[in-house]
Amino acid sequence: MEILHVGAECYPVAKVGGLADVIGSLPKYQNNKNNNVSVAIPCYQTVFRLENNFECIHWGKLKLGQFNFPYSVLKETTDKLGFELYLIEIPELFDRPNVYSYRDDIERFLSFQIAVLDWISGRSSIPDIIHCHDHHTGLIPFMKNYCCKYEKLKNVAAIITIHNGLYQGIFTFNKLYYLPEFDLIHIKELEWGNCINSLASAIKCSDEITTVSTTYLNEINYSDNGLETLFQRVRNKSRGILNGIDMDVWDPSRDTMLEMNYSVTDFSEGKQKNKEHLCSLFKMNPDKPLFSFIGRLYNEKGADLLAKTISSALTTYKNEINFLILGYGDIEIENQLKQLLEVYKENYHVHIGYNEELAHKTYAGSDFLLIPSRIEPCGLNQMYAMRYGTIPIVRRTGGLRDTIIDFEDNGNGICHDQASAEDICDAIQRAVNLYSDKDAIGQIRIKGMNTDHSWEHVSQEYIELYNLIIGKRHEN
Ligand code: GLC
Repeated sequence: MEILHVGAECYPVAKVGGLADVIGSLPKYQNNKNNNVSVAIPCYQTVFRLENNFECIHWGKLKLGQFNFPYSVLKETTDKLGFELYLIEIPELFDRPNVYSYRDDIERFLSFQIAVLDWISGRSSIPDIIHCHDHHTGLIPFMKNYCCKYEKLKNVAAIITIHNGLYQGIFTFNKLYYLPEFDLIHIKELEWGNCINSLASAIKCSDEITTVSTTYLNEINYSDNGLETLFQRVRNKSRGILNGIDMDVWDPSRDTMLEMNYSVTDFSEGKQKNKEHLCSLFKMNPDKPLFSFIGRLYNEKGADLLAKTISSALTTYKNEINFLILGYGDIEIENQLKQLLEVYKENYHVHIGYNEELAHKTYAGSDFLLIPSRIEPCGLNQMYAMRYGTIPIVRRTGGLRDTIIDFEDNGNGICHDQASAEDICDAIQRAVNLYSDKDAIGQIRIKGMNTDHSWEHVSQEYIELYNLIIGKRHEN
């Protein structure tokens, strides 16, 4: 089977969040003698692009409404990622350092999708399945079904995986002329709330919809995302498939970014050494329990609760615990966290920015990882934490609920129900008590490290789904 994944990010080429980790690893586990798997993302100006070799395999000229744009398809020549990587180069729109947050994101990602369709519709072998990820690729199913130009792709099966339903790629009908020609009879397939809604269109036009956990699939039917009734309508073509993690990249016994490697059989010394190293970077005392947070600093992730939680916990525990925060995002949250540095000089540090190496060191060197998300479609951090023997403290939502059970119920982590500083502090209190019981905490670390979140069987679940929808298309 020929499988093409299309998305906005792919680790290690371009990463903002977990989407990159999934697109950078799932294809690797699907690629075998039966399946030929490739990934197409836009060509940003990233280090990976500069440091690796690419050959231009295709180019063309296209239109986005009245704007003309050239594009080229660059293929990475060494297949070092374990699948074929194609970067879609569109000068001016993508040769920028960041992935998102430009004013013309709608034009950027629409041009990208049009270029992908133009390229594959001209190929002699077209994919059997196009696997779209999130709203940046949400108009592909519509365009391939209805735009006359892509007639050849009409019968190709398409699925959309929703990694985050809050972002939907919405724009007004004034920009309808950006899309290649199609019969207006199908216009409803683009519309939600009187706008063109890329995610809603993908939900309507894809053969199947997946979310990255089962609980998230249930939550989006009633949570406040604006698409609730649409999700309810398409329930019979939707399913939750929990993400896996790349066990090669995230392996404390081989991770070259760590101070000392360790595994489940000898983690005590390894974790201690990594903790000492991490604490020395931020001048913190390694004898105290270390609570970390890694991620984007947004309300959705509960990051607005961190400053209050930290002040309150450090007051209660009279500075007997340490906190480390890594991330960036909302300026107001960044400022709150930076201000705390003035108050808590010895027990707290925040690193604003994204740093993959520091993230690995933090998973290895921390005792507990805070994940107080309001919304968490899957969450990979709890899986990385467990793999490194660090105990996740999670709010029961989405994929966090599906992966973490409280240790008092014989589980692998610590859970709380509300996204509130009070609830997180209660969980921290239970964590501090646990920390003093070396045997008990060791058992939970072992449980986490032994949990299998590899892609092996999950990637197979996707293949079965592809076969199912391809089969259905043949029946019709
Ligand atoms: C998004 C979601 C996160 C998920 C990731 C990969 O970043 O917020 O929960 O783990 O995508 O699917």
